[in-house]
Parts: sequence; C-alpha cells; structure tokens
Amino acid sequence: MEKFFELFKKNLKTARLELRIMEPTLANAEMVWEVVKTQNPDDFKYVWFTATHNSHMTESLEETLQRIKLDYESKTGCAYYVFYQGKFIGYQRIHYIESSRTLQCAAVWFVKSAWGNGFNQEVHKKLESMAFDELGANRICRQIMPANVRSKKSIESGGYHLDGVDRQAEMQPDGTFTDRCLYSKLISEYKQK
Ligand SMILES: CC(C)(COP(=O)(O)OP(=O)(O)OC[C@H]1O[C@@H](n2cnc3c(N)ncnc32)[C@H](O)[C@@H]1OP(=O)(O)O)[C@@H](O)C(=O)NCCC(=O)NCCS
Repeated sequence: MEKFFELFKKNLKTARLELRIMEPTLANAEMVWEVVKTQNPDDFKYVWFTATHNSHMTESLEETLQRIKLDYESKTGCAYYVFYQGKFIGYQRIHYIESSRTLQCAAVWFVKSAWGNGFNQEVHKKLESMAFDELGANRICRQIMPANVRSKKSIESGGYHLDGVDRQAEMQPDGTFTDRCLYSKLISEYKQK
C-alpha cells in the first residue's frame, strides 16, 4: 500500500482539472457543502457519497465533514475533490486491493452543470495511466447500477468490459435492493489501445 499512497494520495492535475486531497477542516467541509446543497438529490440517486447512507448525498455540513474525514483517514484508498477553474465540481473515491493488484473505483459524481464535458473520462484517463504505468496494477474495476444510463455510457465509451451482474448487491437508502453491473479493464487491454 505504501507505493499506492505515495503515488495517489496527493493533489493531481489533468489537462483541465485539479484533483485535490481534501483535509478534514471546517472550511473545506463548508466549501463542499455549499456546492452539494445546491444540487437536486434526484440527480444523484445512483451514488453513495454520504457518510451515513441515509441518503445519496450528504445532508448537512456535519455529515460532509464526516465524509471528508473518512476519506482522509482511509487505510484502503483515497478520494479526490475535483476542481475546474478553481471551483469545486465533483468527487472520485478509489481503493487499492494490493493482493490482487486491483484498483477499485468507488463513488463518483459531478455537479449537474459539469456533466457532458468529458470530465469523468478525463479523471479516469489519469487514474488509468497512473495505475497501469506507474503503480503496476493489473486491473481497474468500476461498477454501476443498471439504470444509471449516463454512467453506463461513460464507462463503456472508456473501453471497460462488462464482467457480469451482482444481483441485488446494492441496498438503497430506502431499503430496496438494486443490481450492480461490474466492469473492468486489464493492463493488457490498456496496453493494446
Ligand atoms: C455519471 C457521470 C459522472 C457522467 O458524467 P458525464 O459528464 O456524462 O461523463 P463523461 O466524462 O463520460 O462525458 C461524456 C459526455 O461529455 C461529452 N464531451 C464533451 N467534451 C468531451 C471530451 N473532451 N471528452 C469526452 N467527452 C466529451 C460527450 O459528448 C458526452 O456527452 P453526452 O453524454 O451528452 O453525449 C455524471 O452523470 C454524474 O455525476 N452523475 C450523478 C452521479 C452518478 O450517478 N455517479 C455515478 C455512480 S456509478
């Protein structure tokens, strides 16, 4: 894990975006919460950003701070708070499973006004090149709930392979269950492109 944290737990840059590791300060939580609270929760019903999972997005400043703290203190991965032109616009959490050299992508979301700019793909291109070219990962995994049409399109156009479906693997905050589609990309596929 040492190499993973050395490479990944730091601020990164892509052509248009800054991916920041957020320290759990009140000022940072306020900045994130000011953005989250303006969003329509219905647009985020396939994501799990919260600390409590009582909803899809954090519901208060306190919970937002709790989320940032969990991310910052994680022993299995890290989370990027994504900025465009100095403004906070999105989030991507990742985990690394060293025993199988697998980078597992977890929650991702962008504010609605940022959708349709290729930002999600830009973040993943960066993560792929770091994971495969620098870390020595063998596989990157991503997953979606089947009804998440935008995310499905984004993952598939990024060249990910649908490995299968975990039936009723996700429990929603309302207690209902949803399937989870599992996607992956192998280093051999990455090198072939
Ligand atoms: C899922 C989500 C991250 C996808 O965002 P997105 O912006 O559609 O994703 P992409 O980065 O793949 O962008 C592709 C779109 O950008 C456009 N685009 C513009 N410039 C582009 C560029 N330079 N490169 C690639 N695509 C570009 C594409 O044409 C495409 O637009 P279209 O979907 O209208 O045809 C976003 O919808 C979201 O935050 N949803 C809510 C949370 C959520 O569901 N998260 C996923 C949980 S699994």
